[in-house]
Amino acid sequence: MNREKSRQIFEQATTLIPGGVNSPARAFGGVGGSPVVFERAKGAYMYDVDGNRYIDYVLSWGPMILGHADPRVCDALHEAVSRGTSFGAPTLAENTLAELIVKMVPSIEKVRLVNSGSEATMSAIRLARGYTGRNKIIKFIGCYHGHVDSLLVAAGSAAATLAVPDSPGVTPGCAADTILVQYNDVAAVCETFAQYGAEIAGVIVEPVGGNMGCVPGSREFLQTLRDETVKAGSLLIFDEVMTGFRVAKGGAQEYYGIMPDITTLGKVVGGGLPVGAYAGRKEIMDAISPVGKVYQAGTLSGNPLATAAGIATLTAIDEDPDFYAKIDRATTRLAEGIAALAAESGVKVAVPHIGGMATVFFLSEEDDAVVDWPSSSRCDKARFAKFFWNLLDQGVYLPCSQFETMFTSVAHTDAIVDETLECVGKAFKAL
Ligand SMILES: Cc1ncc(COP(=O)(O)O)c(C=O)c1O
Repeated sequence: MNREKSRQIFEQATTLIPGGVNSPARAFGGVGGSPVVFERAKGAYMYDVDGNRYIDYVLSWGPMILGHADPRVCDALHEAVSRGTSFGAPTLAENTLAELIVKMVPSIEKVRLVNSGSEATMSAIRLARGYTGRNKIIKFIGCYHGHVDSLLVAAGSAAATLAVPDSPGVTPGCAADTILVQYNDVAAVCETFAQYGAEIAGVIVEPVGGNMGCVPGSREFLQTLRDETVKAGSLLIFDEVMTGFRVAKGGAQEYYGIMPDITTLGKVVGGGLPVGAYAGRKEIMDAISPVGKVYQAGTLSGNPLATAAGIATLTAIDEDPDFYAKIDRATTRLAEGIAALAAESGVKVAVPHIGGMATVFFLSEEDDAVVDWPSSSRCDKARFAKFFWNLLDQGVYLPCSQFETMFTSVAHTDAIVDETLECVGKAFKAL
């Protein structure tokens, strides 16, 4: 497949933009080589600047659950843009989007809109600290919550792990109040609460891990988080930036039937425009300025274009009673098809999937499943990279890292999934 124009544009980008990208996940660091430069997208397809077509399982890293350029979203945007692009003042559309979120996500009573997932998690942590008057936060190894200083941390040497900075520029002071625990490790959660319970403001968790590949939280793990936070008077924050409106209409909290105190949202909630939200029970949300004392603000928060795309997307989901049956069908067909093809070719993989999320893990000799960061990190990255490039050259666009999650949309029909599986079969044979 010829991608010469992509190569040239990316080369120029490296002279203008650090690494040629405005977000590192796009840089093909995990698979090597030059990223594809895209021109347009429609439904389940993306088209690059050289005129190649790809079946897209990245979906802008999650948001495009209706498929690209859905007419309902495009019409809403055209209509909104003609009325002005930003007012910095209240609009009816903000109420409409908040009402939809409250209606669809079970634990949410009030919502504050922001502009990204990172902003949502940063603000949720501040709220948990402000509301409880405590400082410490528990975060799980392998979970990503955006580029928030106190969450860009790595495991230190202590057993119940006090975090250290994971990026230059994050101060030891910022990291010091974050405690790192292994994902899905119930005993470690209980031990950490036994040691630090009275100091813990909140626990932030991806209820389904999506940033070490797709790693669903076990029910026992998530229930333990709920029970221990209640006992300790700490807040439970479900980071549903990825899982919100993707694992189920009401997110992972509806799927598991476990209610957090605070929920963070992003991706699907903005329908492809920059939107995030943090939300929760009224009495907690009313601790935020201007009602309460926890300060948070944003010039473009609740922007009319962003809210229009969000409303159009959530309305389309809400009005289709079969929406998640379609998403589940596409993901299950894809994941089970890939697992069967791998078995035929004698390639050892696990393909966990839930809602519109799945990952093909090239398991190490010692693992039969991926349940946490250590088992994810042991996967065969070189084999994944070969698989990725083979599929890319056949016109299938996967996330460019073993540690990312594939996403499906309602535009991924049976025929499109079956076309993908044909390519996957060839890719396994070529490994
Ligand atoms: C679970 C989770 N939280 C937060 C974020 C940060 O969101 P954003 O990239 O919109 O800042 C991401 C981004 O991928 C995410 O997956």
